[in-house]
Amino acid sequence: MRWPGLIDPHVHMREPGGTHKEDWSSGTAAALAGGFTQVLAMPNTDPPVVDNRSLTMVHGLAEKKAHCDFAQYLGATPDNAKTACKLAHKSAGLKLYLDQTYGPLRLDSMALWQSHLQAWPADFPVVAHAEGRTMAAVILLAALSQRPLHLAHVATREEILLVKAAKERGINITCEVTPHHLFLTIDDLADGWREVRPRLGTGSDVAALWENLPVIDCFATDHAPHTAAEKVGENTPPGFPGLETALPLLLTAVHEGRMFLEDVSNRLGKNVRQIFRIPTQQDTWIEVDLEAKRTLSARHMHSKAMWTPFEGWPVRGAVQTVTLRGKKVYQDGRVLSPPGFGKGIR
Ligand code: DOR
Ligand code: ZN
Repeated sequence: MRWPGLIDPHVHMREPGGTHKEDWSSGTAAALAGGFTQVLAMPNTDPPVVDNRSLTMVHGLAEKKAHCDFAQYLGATPDNAKTACKLAHKSAGLKLYLDQTYGPLRLDSMALWQSHLQAWPADFPVVAHAEGRTMAAVILLAALSQRPLHLAHVATREEILLVKAAKERGINITCEVTPHHLFLTIDDLADGWREVRPRLGTGSDVAALWENLPVIDCFATDHAPHTAAEKVGENTPPGFPGLETALPLLLTAVHEGRMFLEDVSNRLGKNVRQIFRIPTQQDTWIEVDLEAKRTLSARHMHSKAMWTPFEGWPVRGAVQTVTLRGKKVYQDGRVLSPPGFGKGIR
């Protein structure tokens, strides 16, 4: 079957500052292997991407190294509301970190949230990492600022019901859910390995996400690679790699009758394009074998993480080829495009 290239609105490329975990070449190779031809990269790098200088620096790295097309988010800080908004047209969007996560970016005061929500142009995306009560608060502030807001990685029953209720009231929000929150509960992985933000939910949380599939606008991997060595022991960094497992997991759910093929293609394609205003790519498609039977294993992956929370899972569906702007860039496990073939989206 042939599909347009997939879009992942939430990945962590780790470059600059964490290239032992991932870099623009390995991360975008993983993207192609997963069927993604456009990725939007988060700003919690080291240094974080928060101004023109850091944005230009990352664009330079990505232009040299990326195998697929890309855009880079800007991170909101306590003092960049007035300057970041001038860079909106050059970035994937503005990322608001409102709860604890990996890296230094975090805004605690609601006054700061509001200054960003008001300054950032309403026709460019704002994405919030906001859990539980924080999510309720930021939805209200976005509504008061009369601007759209995208909620990253909705993970619990109370969150998905909150999003549903807000949408029913006509509040202009959209949301994404990750495959790991759809397919794993907190009891499925051992200490250390299971650390991710938001945390994995209970069986009831997972059931609520499935029951409210129509509320979910996009699937996003939140590809957050940390190495296997880093995931062992105490205080392990939160995050899972996800680019190379998302599509087969979702296609397996289709195979099992848990959702329709269109539920997947819209949430990894059309809906993401609309919300994030991403232009269509000319002559770009993926060929997917829907029937292929495989066992997921990090051994076959391109990410530097070298592990997956889905190791050993039997799945249906495999990406056979990826064609990007008329050139075959991936075939049966091998990336064929040179680093730098990827282009900036903005
Ligand atoms: O688990 C997570 N890891 N959640 C985040 O929000 C950040 C990410 C990371 O950068 O490692
Ligand atoms: Zn993330």
